[in-house]
Amino acid sequence: MAEDPVIVVGGGLAGLMTVIKTAEAGLKVALFSVCPVKRSHSVCAQGGINASVNTKGEGDSPYIHFVETIRGGDFLADQPPVKGMCDSAPALVYLLDRMGVMFNRTPEGLLDFRRFGGTLYSRTAFAGATTGQQLVYALDEQVRRYEAEGLVEKYEFWEFVRLVLDDSGRCRGIVAQNLHDMSFRAFPGTAVVLATGGPGLIFGRTTNSMYNTGFAAAVAYTQGAWYANGEFIQVHPTAIPGEDKLRLISESARGEGGRIWVPRKKGDDRPPNEIPESERWYFLEEKYPKYGNLVPRDIAARELYHVTVNLGLGPDGGRSVYLDLTHKDPAELDVKLGGILEIYEKFMLEDPKRTPMKVAPAVHYSMGGLWVGYEKDPATGALKRGSPKNHATNIPGLYAVGECDFQYHGANRLGANSHSLLSCLYGGQETGPAVVSYVHGLKDSASDAPARLFEAALEEERKDYAAIAAMSGTVNPFALHRELGETMNACMTIVRENPKLKETLARIAGFRERWRKLDTCDRSGRSNQAATFARALRGMLTLAEVMTKCALLRDECRGAHYKPEFEIPPPKDVRPDNPEWKEYFSRYFENNRKFLKTAVAEHTPDGPRIFYREVDTSLLEPEPRDYIGHASAAWKYWKPRLE
Ligand code: FUM
Repeated sequence: MAEDPVIVVGGGLAGLMTVIKTAEAGLKVALFSVCPVKRSHSVCAQGGINASVNTKGEGDSPYIHFVETIRGGDFLADQPPVKGMCDSAPALVYLLDRMGVMFNRTPEGLLDFRRFGGTLYSRTAFAGATTGQQLVYALDEQVRRYEAEGLVEKYEFWEFVRLVLDDSGRCRGIVAQNLHDMSFRAFPGTAVVLATGGPGLIFGRTTNSMYNTGFAAAVAYTQGAWYANGEFIQVHPTAIPGEDKLRLISESARGEGGRIWVPRKKGDDRPPNEIPESERWYFLEEKYPKYGNLVPRDIAARELYHVTVNLGLGPDGGRSVYLDLTHKDPAELDVKLGGILEIYEKFMLEDPKRTPMKVAPAVHYSMGGLWVGYEKDPATGALKRGSPKNHATNIPGLYAVGECDFQYHGANRLGANSHSLLSCLYGGQETGPAVVSYVHGLKDSASDAPARLFEAALEEERKDYAAIAAMSGTVNPFALHRELGETMNACMTIVRENPKLKETLARIAGFRERWRKLDTCDRSGRSNQAATFARALRGMLTLAEVMTKCALLRDECRGAHYKPEFEIPPPKDVRPDNPEWKEYFSRYFENNRKFLKTAVAEHTPDGPRIFYREVDTSLLEPEPRDYIGHASAAWKYWKPRLE
């Protein structure tokens, strides 16, 4: 039996951790990345990584982390994998520390932790405000060790374009394209792991890197992999504009005491430092006294939308609000937030230590992604570590991990539970052993598959690319992408309405027609970015349709998916014993019966077929999500009376 490698596509944290765990078990790995591994999007993660270490003696624990993560995701996440993630987080952070990550420390020399959204505990370990970058560098060094030992081979500037599937539907390898000379090659692999990140570019300008198109996930989906919960798109409340992309201003700014406000008076265009305290509205602190500026992102983004779009109080009449750090000690800010302060100053030409920052919401993360399964230990109900089913897609031999999978976050992700950090690293820790078990269970190797499979897949891709590179119609791919982004941003972000979603689906169909008339302009045989972008755009249109269709079908409000028409309003009299809560809870149960489900999209020639799967809520009973406290108090009162 030939010794084919495991193929890992994507060199961000999820990919790197998968490589480490696979190579550690002695298997060969071929690692593919569209960019140098050290430039993967994980480096953009700023604020930190969650782990309930409880160094500050606040009584935090992995179980509380689990409960808050499930609640943060509005109970839509399968619970055993989330429990596994939260339980493993402290050890993971200590592992990173030992790898040499320069985490901030307390004066006593302990790891320092700060607050993030959706929790009242200091749970986020951080390396200034460039945590992702420090983590990528640490893991990259570990992977280099295996590379030196001959276990890992890197293919940087290679783009995954196709799975090679055999006649039984099993994944036997990939076709990839060299992005320098544009040549194609087929690579046999015993298993294939996609760790290709999120699809943010579908929304045009976002906090994502320019290669986060979702193309690889779209390819796998078109070849039969299921795509789950595509409608759940996270909008981060605080980013700054750029011509090319939007730049994140980390939630950690609020974790370190940053305050969000708008002028109380509409049209008040005085510079922020001239607006007296009494004329500033700290709307998050006022409405959410417990969580303040650190309510979960979906809620913060909606409140910002309300204050700026509905009430028109944004300082420039637009969607911005002020994020104010000017009351903080500048020296401390430099130590804890240096990275983002530099970004702000560089791009906005103002010193955020002296002047409040002007920030606005931006698409940031996709909770949805390729569907992956897991196996539970029948005795304990906990995740069975090392099972080949963990992180396996529905295509045998194909795995997905990191933002390109749908696991862990349900309807809304809590900051620092991932964006390349916790769920990506934990996912990699699970995927590596799962793949190793899968490979050890194989009776043959990938290259034992008939050569015709690889030749045919290669030929298909060569032909497809040649056709795209020769397109000389009238539509500019970059202009078409801008239109797609604007459409998706307008209708598929913070507030969704069915008529607009239907219109969006019709527009996507129109974009597809126009895609056929592209002019890819660049005929170069080297580093042809226009042709590869046009190909990725086709994938973006595919996933845009999946996301929008799922959003249209989900007639409820859950996490980041908000349709005002289907909101269940709490009673006006919020006293817990008010009998109107009974009606509220019965509507809540009824809604869960219909929609507490994972939406799964399957590709068909006529478009996505959507079906629903039960969510595993075996560890924590769903309850109404509430960061003010009224519904929770009423739930405590009514729950025993409703049973
Ligand atoms: O705000 C941030 O630093 C982002 C973190 C995350 O998305 O997890």
